[in-house]
Parts: sequence; structure tokens; C-alpha cells
Amino acid sequence: MKAMVYRGPYRVRVEEKNVPPIEHPNDAIVRVTTAAICGSDLHLYHGMMPDTRVGTTFGHEFVGVVEEVGSSVSKLKCGDRVMVPFNIFCGSCFFCARGLYSSCHNVNPNATAVGGIYGYSHTCGGYDGGQSQFVRVPFADVGPSVVPEWMAEEDAVLLTDALPTGYFAAQLGDIVEGDVVVVFGAGPVGLFAAKSAWLMGAGRVIVIDHLDYRLAKARSFAHAETYNFVEYDDIVVEMKKITDHLGADVAIDAVGAEADGNLLQHVTSAKLKLQGGSPVALNWAIDSVRKGGTVSVVGGYGPMFSAVKFGDALNKGLTLRMNQCPVKRQWPRLLEHMRNGYLKPSDIVTHRFSLEDIAEGYHVFSAKLDDCIKPLVIPTAA
Ligand SMILES: NC(=O)c1ccc[n+]([C@@H]2O[C@H](COP(=O)([O-])OP(=O)(O)OC[C@H]3O[C@@H](n4cnc5c(N)ncnc54)[C@H](O)[C@@H]3O)[C@@H](O)[C@H]2O)c1
Ligand SMILES: [Zn+2]
Ligand SMILES: [Zn+2]
Repeated sequence: MKAMVYRGPYRVRVEEKNVPPIEHPNDAIVRVTTAAICGSDLHLYHGMMPDTRVGTTFGHEFVGVVEEVGSSVSKLKCGDRVMVPFNIFCGSCFFCARGLYSSCHNVNPNATAVGGIYGYSHTCGGYDGGQSQFVRVPFADVGPSVVPEWMAEEDAVLLTDALPTGYFAAQLGDIVEGDVVVVFGAGPVGLFAAKSAWLMGAGRVIVIDHLDYRLAKARSFAHAETYNFVEYDDIVVEMKKITDHLGADVAIDAVGAEADGNLLQHVTSAKLKLQGGSPVALNWAIDSVRKGGTVSVVGGYGPMFSAVKFGDALNKGLTLRMNQCPVKRQWPRLLEHMRNGYLKPSDIVTHRFSLEDIAEGYHVFSAKLDDCIKPLVIPTAA
């Protein structure tokens, strides 16, 4: 089969690999029909994620058709069209029993912090991902669901990560009616977080980025007020000015460890590797929220020390909430919103690359060329 393969920072290509076999009776093999590239894949692509091994295949957003099932799989059968959450989870451990699917204890021998994620380095379990013609899906009765008849393929693929994560970010904000919500980052996750904030009763939704074309999308898709942080000496002061000098009730970090906006942070993290990442967006979130407010973090951060303003968070009495999104927990409500017409996730898709052109896809998405917001990857039928 053809699969995307990592060769080193900023280098990916398509190679021939063996079609993965069933390794366990609970496995399924899925023929991928549509995949996507996530902002999280860029952390891998940029060489930021520990233990990203040459030869591995990325891709944790994918939908496809069940090609083969292991002997104990009972809920799926060959030919089913399935969407697969980015988390690999057992469904029955201490954490899964509490709905913390992204914290599953049975799927990743290498870490006590993070669970299993398709195509996301050996730090996250070493599973190959779905930017490929075929992918092995462990715990096939637990994670995947059959795509409802009425749902379009390109909406389904966005249900495997980007939309649930944005929705989850808004949930973690504990938004109450009338709240002022500020979202850092107008990528797919930030756009969905902004849109979801309205569904949870926000009174005002503000989105901050430095890419004007993405801010335009935040206005048209998520009906947000937008600010380009490079146009202000200090974006935090601006946020205070527009919120009666109190700050927002809720701030969402949908940027993560590769934030722009502070040269010193960029040099000490991306260049000198003195920090696990640049905490600019997280610190702006801490500074922009009012005392007693909530900061919700879904942007990706590595395990190492970074210069986070933890003391300010403490002294302001903030609530900090964060996690990798437990995708499947979000599906029932999201399906309802989509069916009722409140959410049309594929509205943010800007690019479709064939699997053969995936190197171009990574380059365009990473360099934010051609007004790219969300690129999909389409493997040709095997
Ligand atoms: N927790 C989870 O489950 C989960 C799931 C998916 C993605 N993520 C993470 O969420 C983040 C966003 O994902 P995405 O797909 O939207 O990525 P993306 O790279 O497309 O979007 C990030 C956006 O942040 C903007 N940005 C950079 N610095 C900023 C700053 N200081 N302030 C405001 N905006 C800034 C960029 O211009 C870009 O538009 C990534 O870190 C990704 O790893 C987490
Ligand atoms: Zn992702
Ligand atoms: Zn589990």
C-alpha cells in the first residue's frame, strides 16, 4: 500500500508499505477514504515531538471502510463506513470508565501522561496513522462508529478530531450565559471552539491570530470579533480595554507550543530547545482572563519546562482546565448539532491533496500558504 512516511523534520514522502495485518482479535483493518492533516501533525513535522521515528506514518484524522475484522470484533463488519476517533482507547480501564478516553491506561506502554494516538510518535504509543491507504484500528468495537447515512464524508472526517476538540475547548471553559470568551488561534480548532462557545451561551466571542485570512474565516464562519495581534503593541492590554478593564470570563488556548508573538520565547524554545515550546499564547490567555476566570487549554504542549506564568494564574484564582480531547464523548451532542444544522464542519476545508501529493500538503499547511485552513488527504482506492 501507499503511506505517508516521516523522514525527519520538514521531510515527509509517500512510500510503499505492507498492508497492516490483524494483530489482535479486537483489531480491524480500515481502508482509508479520507484523512486530514491536523495542526498537531505540524508539531511532528517540525520535529518538536519526542520519539518521532523515521519511517512512521502520521494521521489521526481519518474515515474509511472496514476491510477486515479480528475474530472477536462484534459491532463492525466488512464494508461498514466508519469514523475513527484520534484516541486509541480500551473502553474499560479506570480512566475510560470515567470517560477520560484520551487518558486510557491500556494503550501506551511508554508514558503515564498521554494515552494512545494514531500516527503520533512512540511517545503516544507508536501506532501508525491513517495518512495511508490502510490502517490498523485496535479496540475496533470501542473507538470507531459507523458514519450515519445522512453525514457527508468531509463532515465525518472533521468529527475525528478538529470539531470535537474545538467543542471540548469551549466545554472546558465552563461557559455560562453571557460570558465573554476569547479564543487564541484561528486554526481549525480555534474556529470550532469559537463557534461552539455560542452554542454554550457565550455573550461575546473574540478570536485572536495574526493571519488575516483566518481571522476573516473567524468572522464569517464563527461570527466572532477578531483582532490581529501584530497590530497592537500589547494584545493583552487591548483585551483589557475592550472588557471594561476586567478581562474576559473565559480564555481558550487553541495555539499550543509553537505560538508566534514573542521572539525571546521562539528562540529559547524552537531554536535553543531550552523550553518544550513557546508559552506565549498560554500566557496571553492567563493575562487576558479576569480574576477568578477560566483558562481552557487544548493547544498542544510537550512535557518539558516552559516559562508559564503560573504564579499569575495562582494569584488571580484562575481555573485551568486541559486535556487531549476524549473525542467519542463529544459525538452524541455534535451529531445532534450537525443534524439540526447548527454545525457544518466541512465549511472550514480549504484544500484536498491526493496521498501522493502529501508532502506538498504538509508544506502548504505548515507555511500557511494559499490561505490554507484545513487540508484533507485522499488516498486513491487500492
Ligand atoms: N487537545 C487536543 O485534543 C488537540 C486536538 C487537536 C489539536 N490540538 C492542538 O491544538 C492546536 C491548534 O490546532 P489547529 O489544527 O487549529 O492548528 P493550526 O496550526 O492550524 O492553528 C494554530 C493557529 O494559531 C495561530 N497562532 C500562532 N501564535 C499565536 C498567538 N500567539 N496567539 C494567537 N494565535 C496564534 C496560528 O497563526 C494558527 O492560525 C495545536 O497545538 C494542536 O496540536 C490539540
Ligand atoms: Zn489532531
Ligand atoms: Zn482505557
